[in-house]
Amino acid sequence: MTDHPAPAPTPAPDLFTWEFAADPYPAYAWLREHAPVHRTTLPSGVEAWLVTRYADAKQALADQRLSKNPAHHDEPAHAKGKTGIPGERKAELMTHLLNIDPPDHTRLRRLVSKAFTPRRVAESAPRVRELTGQLIDQFAAKGSADLIHEFAFPLPIYAICELLGVPREDQDDFRDWAGMMIRHQGGPRGGVARSVKKMRGYLADLIHRKREALPAEPAPGEDLISGLIRASDHGEHLTENEAAAMAFILLFAGFETTVNLIGNGTYALLTHPDQRTRLQDSLAAGETGLLETGVEELLRYDGPVELATWRFATQRLAIGGQDIAPGDPVLVVLAAADRDPERFADPDALDLSRRDNQHLGYGHGIHYCLGAPLARLEGQTALATLLTRLPDLRLAVEPDDLRWRGGLIMRGLRTLPVEFTPS
Ligand code: HEM
Repeated sequence: MTDHPAPAPTPAPDLFTWEFAADPYPAYAWLREHAPVHRTTLPSGVEAWLVTRYADAKQALADQRLSKNPAHHDEPAHAKGKTGIPGERKAELMTHLLNIDPPDHTRLRRLVSKAFTPRRVAESAPRVRELTGQLIDQFAAKGSADLIHEFAFPLPIYAICELLGVPREDQDDFRDWAGMMIRHQGGPRGGVARSVKKMRGYLADLIHRKREALPAEPAPGEDLISGLIRASDHGEHLTENEAAAMAFILLFAGFETTVNLIGNGTYALLTHPDQRTRLQDSLAAGETGLLETGVEELLRYDGPVELATWRFATQRLAIGGQDIAPGDPVLVVLAAADRDPERFADPDALDLSRRDNQHLGYGHGIHYCLGAPLARLEGQTALATLLTRLPDLRLAVEPDDLRWRGGLIMRGLRTLPVEFTPS
C-alpha cells in the first residue's frame, strides 16, 4: 500500500446494504486502499466523510478542529435531525459528554471522573460475577439459549444499574426501557422516545431523592450517583440536571456497546475453534493473561462500535490529504482502522494473544471511552464464565443465517442462538 490511494479497479462498494451489515470488512478494505477518506450519503440522506485508515482515524479522533457539537453541522433541511444524535432531538440532553467540546467537556469529564473511578468499578466485580452466574443459571438446564436476549442484553443493564445505585426492585423497568431502545432502533420513534423519557424522569427523581438523603461523609461502597452528586472541582458541583444527563449517558453509552462486545466476542470465539480452545485451556489452568489480551483482540477484530460518534469540521482542514469543508460531518470508522494492515500484522486474523494491540475500539483523545474499565470487567467476566460453565457451547444455526443489526454507529447481532449440554 502507498501513501496515496491506488487507482480503483472497480467502483466503490455499496455501503449500508444487508450484505454490508453482515460483513463490512471487504468494503472497508477497499475504501482503505482506494478512497481512505470517502464522501458518502448515509441512509438518512446526510452526506458525511468516512475515515478508514488507522493513522488518519487516530489523528481525526484527537483533532480539536472537529467538534462534537451538532450545532456545527451544516445540514440540509431535508436531513435535519436525522443524524440520530439524541441531543439533536432533545435540547435537554445536550449537556452530555459525547455532544460537547472543551471547555465544557473538560469540566464535566473531570467531575464525572472523580466519581466513576477504576476503584469504584473494581468494587463492583463480585456483583458482576454474581449477576453473570445468575443469568446463566436461568438457561443452563435448557440446553439452548439466545445469548443476546438471555445473556448479553440483561448483563450490562443490571451491572450499570447496580453501579449507579438504582434499587433492585426498579432494575427490571430499566431492562424494559432499554429493550425498547435497542429493539426499535431505526424504526418507529414513539416507543423509543417514551422509554428515554421514562428513564430520564426516573433518574432525575432518583438523583433528587439521593441528594436529599446524602450523608455528610462518603461511606465505603457508596453508589455512583451519590458520587456524582458529591463530586466537586474547585468548589464546583454538577447541577441536578447535569447529574441526570450524566447518569443517562453512562447508561446509553455503556449499554448497547457492552451487549455487542459480549455478542460479537462470543460469536468470534465460536467461529474460531482453535482460539476458543486456547482460551478454555488457559482458563482451566487458572490463568487470566489470555483472557485480558483476548478481550482487547475481540474489540479490535469485531468491536461493538463500528463508527465513532459524529464530528463536525469547525474550519477548513485536511484529513489524509483530503480537504474537509467547515460544517462537514466526519465519521471515523473504527472497524476499518482496526483492520488496517499498515498498523496491525495479519489484521484479518483473530489472535487472542496479540501484542502491540493499540486498537481504537474505545476511541482516542479527550472522548476516549470513560467506561472502558467497566466494559473490560463485564466482557472478561461474561466470556470466562460462559466458556467455563458451558464448555461445549456451539452455534445452533449456520453463521450465514445470523442477522446483524443494520445500525450506523453500532455493530451487533440481533440474536445468537446456541446449544450446549444442559447443566
Ligand atoms: C465514549 C466505546 C462501554 C461510557 C466512547 C467512545 C467509544 C466507546 C469508541 C468514543 C466515541 C467518540 O469519540 O466519538 C465503547 C465500547 C464499549 C464501551 C467498545 C464496550 C465494549 C462503555 C461503558 C460505559 C461507557 C460500559 C459506561 C458505563 C462512555 C462515555 C463516553 C464513551 C461516557 C463519552 C466520553 C467522552 O465524551 O468524554 N465509548 N464504550 N462506555 N463511553 Fe464507551
